[in-house]
Amino acid sequence: MSTLRVLSVIVCLVGISEAFPMKRSPAAAVIEHCTVPNTVALTFDDGPWIYAENVSDTLTAAGAVGTFFYSKYKYDCIYNSDEISRVQYVYAHGHQIASHTWSHPDLTTLSHDEINSQMDMIEQAIHRITGAYPAFTRPPFGSYNDLVLQVAQERGQKFVTWDFDSGDSVGASVAQQEATYDQTIIQHPSTILALNHETYETTVTQTLPYALQKLKRAGYRLVSLAECLGEQPYKYVDQPGTPDSTWHC
Ligand SMILES: *[C@@H]1O[C@H](CO)[C@@H](O)[C@H](O)[C@H]1NC(C)=O
Ligand SMILES: [Zn+2]
Repeated sequence: MSTLRVLSVIVCLVGISEAFPMKRSPAAAVIEHCTVPNTVALTFDDGPWIYAENVSDTLTAAGAVGTFFYSKYKYDCIYNSDEISRVQYVYAHGHQIASHTWSHPDLTTLSHDEINSQMDMIEQAIHRITGAYPAFTRPPFGSYNDLVLQVAQERGQKFVTWDFDSGDSVGASVAQQEATYDQTIIQHPSTILALNHETYETTVTQTLPYALQKLKRAGYRLVSLAECLGEQPYKYVDQPGTPDSTWHC
């Protein structure tokens, strides 16, 4: 390419960007993949719920670290004492805790302030319960728009979806879930960011042990979301709070 040609391409590109002067600076990109080679991040949405300790122990026994995306409740209030102790158990065992919004709405249906409140209330709950302020949010249903990403950027939250879905939340049988893991493992992608739900007994007692064994045999490192990205899981960590009347759903 001649120098003149290169220059004209540059001028043209500058011209294009100047043609849209009102465009906001782009919102942070949504994370869909792990980036550290040979890692798998197994993530679990919609808790805390009754299988939390089992998921945590199953992961730990396999030498794996998981990531848990919590909301106020899909099944129980996160401030109920049973759920507080489950969240603290999972956190104390070294798994990553992240936000799945306060009441699990489709964020694209909400106003700026409603989105902000949905994010703020669960971040605050996780911080109160664990002492760790989460740095990552998974939008319910993987649903977001420009306004949602703008609020995320204002709050300094990184949005994350997934590149592998076990299918547990859409009615896949255990055999289908296992086959889905098998098909991906055979292709051996460099990384996998896997969506699962800790609220299904079959996910916890059947699919998870199967997937752990297969992924390990394939040579993957089973790490937290933060580690598979080479980032920090929390914005900061200090002391957990003490429950009082403001801890309610
Ligand atoms: C999880 O629960 C299942 C079914 O109750 C049980 O067989 C399994 O041993 C449990 N795993 C752990 C690590 O506690
Ligand atoms: Zn969810």
